[in-house]
Amino acid sequence: MKALVYFGPRDVRVVEMPDAKIEQSTDVLVKITTTNICGSDLHMYEGRTDMESGKILGHENMGRVVEVGKAVAQIKVGDMVCLPFNIGCGHCQNCESGLTGFCLTLNPGFAGAAYGFAGMGPFSGGQAEYLRVPHGDFNCLKLPEDAIEKENDYVMLSDIFPTGYHATELAGVKPGDSVVIYGAGPVGLMAAHSASIKGASKIMVVDNHPDRLKLAEEFGAIPIDFSKGSAVEQVLELTNGKGADKGCECVGYQCCDKHGKEHSNITMNELVQAVKATGSIGVVGVFVPKDPKSKEELQKEGHMDFDFGQFWMKGQRIATGQANVKAYNRQLSTLISVGKARPSLIVSHELSLDEAPNAYKHFDARDKGWTKVLLKPEMITAKK
Ligand SMILES: NC(=O)c1ccc[n+]([C@@H]2O[C@H](COP(=O)([O-])OP(=O)(O)OC[C@H]3O[C@@H](n4cnc5c(N)ncnc54)[C@H](O)[C@@H]3O)[C@@H](O)[C@H]2O)c1
Ligand SMILES: [Zn+2]
Ligand SMILES: [Zn+2]
Repeated sequence: MKALVYFGPRDVRVVEMPDAKIEQSTDVLVKITTTNICGSDLHMYEGRTDMESGKILGHENMGRVVEVGKAVAQIKVGDMVCLPFNIGCGHCQNCESGLTGFCLTLNPGFAGAAYGFAGMGPFSGGQAEYLRVPHGDFNCLKLPEDAIEKENDYVMLSDIFPTGYHATELAGVKPGDSVVIYGAGPVGLMAAHSASIKGASKIMVVDNHPDRLKLAEEFGAIPIDFSKGSAVEQVLELTNGKGADKGCECVGYQCCDKHGKEHSNITMNELVQAVKATGSIGVVGVFVPKDPKSKEELQKEGHMDFDFGQFWMKGQRIATGQANVKAYNRQLSTLISVGKARPSLIVSHELSLDEAPNAYKHFDARDKGWTKVLLKPEMITAKK
């Protein structure tokens, strides 16, 4: 099968790989119809992780079931399914509690497994023609009748829509809250969409890319361009000097200043200032325990110069981590089905798998208009 494989920093290629296949009786085999490129793929693409060469990337996957293992009872051949990026076993203590982003059995020595991800277990990604889904009954979300018609919406259930929603859950967003969101990438935009769905009274989204900020506006948010002045001051002005009730971090350790220079502590320290005293901050942007390629000494060891005194004095709270996609994907799927959520608004490109290396280049450069890339492996088949 054709697949997009990581060979080294900024070197990904579409090559022929052995077909994905059923390996265990609980597996499901999916023919991928849509697979997205994610901001998380870029940490690997840029060589900022210990991703091994030769691995297939891709953790935002959707497709048609073409084969099921003998022990699979619920999922049938022909079902259209969306796969949470994190893989759960379904029976460990964390999976049982709905914390499927922290499965204890699938990636021994680490809490959490995912497709095509550095440090998240041996699982191949889905930027390919086929994907093996372990524990298929548990991990497949069977989609409703309109799965194909709304494919570009449903595929967002694999990661960024539940992740954006998780940011608002971690921050404890409630109806009537004002919310500041750092990052207008796909995740930040989905956090804005989720905050709006939850009935937030005012949503402010911070970034410096006008095209992305424009999308934030389409989701009902007030755009805040940090290249045009202090984001914190703009948020304080919009909240009568008090700060937002809740804050979401949707950027992560590669956050930059207005000159494009990385300082891993910018967003966290700004959130402490931009969120009110006693407010809460949800952090879904990725921070890593080791980052040897960073130019900052502290960050190399996964440390940061954090304004803990200010944070403590304001009596704020922080919650962090990978999204437990399965905790939200079914409800969010219903919102898509009835037309109350439309995550596909952020889609900028639908391309064949062959076009993936070029798409990585543009998305990595945050080139204007490259907001979210959807790869359609069947486009290749159609061309043959
Ligand atoms: N927790 C999870 O489960 C989970 C899941 C998916 C993605 N993520 C992470 O979420 C983060 C965002 O993902 P994405 O796909 O939206 O990525 P992205 O890289 O496309 O978007 C990040 C955005 O942040 C902006 N930005 C950079 N510095 C900033 C600053 N100082 N202030 C405000 N905005 C700033 C960039 O301009 C960009 O638009 C990444 O770290 C990704 O790995 C986490
Ligand atoms: Zn992702
Ligand atoms: Zn588990």
